[in-house]
Amino acid sequence: MKIAIASDHGGFELKKEIIKLLERKKIEYKDFGTFSAEPIDYPDVAIPCAEAVARGEFDKGIILCGTGIGVCICANKVKGIRAALCHDTFSARMSRMHNDANVLTMGGRVIGPSLAATIVEEWLDAEFEGGRHQRRLEKISKYENKAQ
Ligand code: RB5
Repeated sequence: MKIAIASDHGGFELKKEIIKLLERKKIEYKDFGTFSAEPIDYPDVAIPCAEAVARGEFDKGIILCGTGIGVCICANKVKGIRAALCHDTFSARMSRMHNDANVLTMGGRVIGPSLAATIVEEWLDAEFEGGRHQRRLEKISKYENKAQ
């Protein structure tokens, strides 16, 4: 599995923790920045990271900012991306099982590193259930293809 990861300054510390987890689990990843706590504009990292997932270069993406909201909005503008903002394990699992989310977003100013790490583990382990959920995703894709 290959993961694309990114954060702005608001998610920078949390990103370091998530990277430690990925390294412990021997999961391959690419860090799309930012690489310091200096303020940046979250679209500058969230969009390239999500685009790399959409191009199929990575299996999934994890994108962090202060709240997880800005990067979630950005990622969901990229065609083919289903980004889910999750600060609890139930939503994280459901975002995979029902929504086939391919990007997880979280807020470094919202959630602590231990819960965030558990969320990432559960999100990576959960599988899409397909079936009626596939039909719903196809309706989203149909709209997306018509709109662009
Ligand atoms: C940056 O101050 C902050 O606005 C950003 O990290 C994020 O929370 C936006 O949604």
